Formats: sequence, structure tokens, C-alpha cells
Amino acid sequence: MAGALCPGSFDPVHNGHIDVISRAAAQFDEVVVTVLINKNKQGMFSIDERMEMLREATSDLPNVRIESWYGLLVDFAREQGINAIVKGLRDATDFGYELQMAQMNRKLTGVDTYFLASNPAHTFLSSSLIKEVAALSGDVADMLPPAVHKRLLARIAERRG
Ligand code: PNS
Repeated sequence: MAGALCPGSFDPVHNGHIDVISRAAAQFDEVVVTVLINKNKQGMFSIDERMEMLREATSDLPNVRIESWYGLLVDFAREQGINAIVKGLRDATDFGYELQMAQMNRKLTGVDTYFLASNPAHTFLSSSLIKEVAALSGDVADMLPPAVHKRLLARIAERRG
């Protein structure tokens, strides 16, 4: 199959994301992981930091490229000549939200969305929950790539001052 986008906020990337990106990379010739810029949301990590962490965490996947985009995802897909989006689905809540976006994106430009059922071991993972738990000194070491875990702890320590 040709190329696919794996979009998200990735603030920061966690093991559930890596699982979806790796599985997409096994099915598509090229996977463009796209960090979406949301000007209304500050985030814990800058877009450049998120991209750097994604690059490190996917360095063993030669057909994965990391990019960022501000605007409609379908416009980026068109610019890249890509006709597919891959998303992970953790549960029924994800499904409701993702189905609506997939249908909107298809209506806008005809781009199709492919859903991967998340690995049950990752169903409870979300970047915001991981940040909350880590900020309250909970152990999140096995939920993130090791380099991301290190950076998360450093950022939390920095913020504590
Ligand atoms: O990791 P997230 O925050 O769940 O990812 C959601 C994201 C960024 C993929 C989604 O909000 C998105 O595609 N934003 C880009 C703007 C856009 O195209 N909006 C219309 C979606 S139908």
C-alpha cells in the first residue's frame, strides 16, 4: 500500500502511539507521523521537542517520517499526495470521536481513515493521563519510550523549580 498519515498531538508520544505507528509502518510503504499544531493548547512539550522524541522513538523504522502541520489534516494529506490516515482505537469513546472525524475528512477530500484496534495492554494509555500521574510522582516508566520518560521527568522537575 502507498503512504499513510499517523496524526496526533503526541504531547508526548507514548507506547500506544508507537504500537500504532509500527503496525502502520508494516502495512504502508511510508508512514508520515504528523504532529498537529494547536494554537489554543499550550502543551507540555514544544512541537520541535515532540518531533524530536518521535524521531528517536521511531529510529528503527526506516519508512517512518516525522512532520508537523498547522491547519486541516486533509490539506496536509493532499500536499503530501497521501490518501490514507491511520488511527488507533482504544475504546468506544475513541470510536465515536474518530468516526466523526473520519467521515468529515472523507467528505472534505475523499481521504480514507484506517482504524487499528489498540493493543489491549495499551488501552488505558493517554498522554494527558500519563502527564498527570507522572506529575503526582506515579510510576509511568513502562508506558513511554525510555528517552521520553527521561524527558518527561526532567520537564516536571523543571516546572517544580
Ligand atoms: O492526539 P489527538 O489530540 O487526539 O489528535 C487529534 C488530531 C490532532 C489528529 C485532530 O484534532 C486533527 O486532525 N486536527 C487537525 C485539524 C483538522 O483537520 N480538524 C478537522 C478534523 S475532521
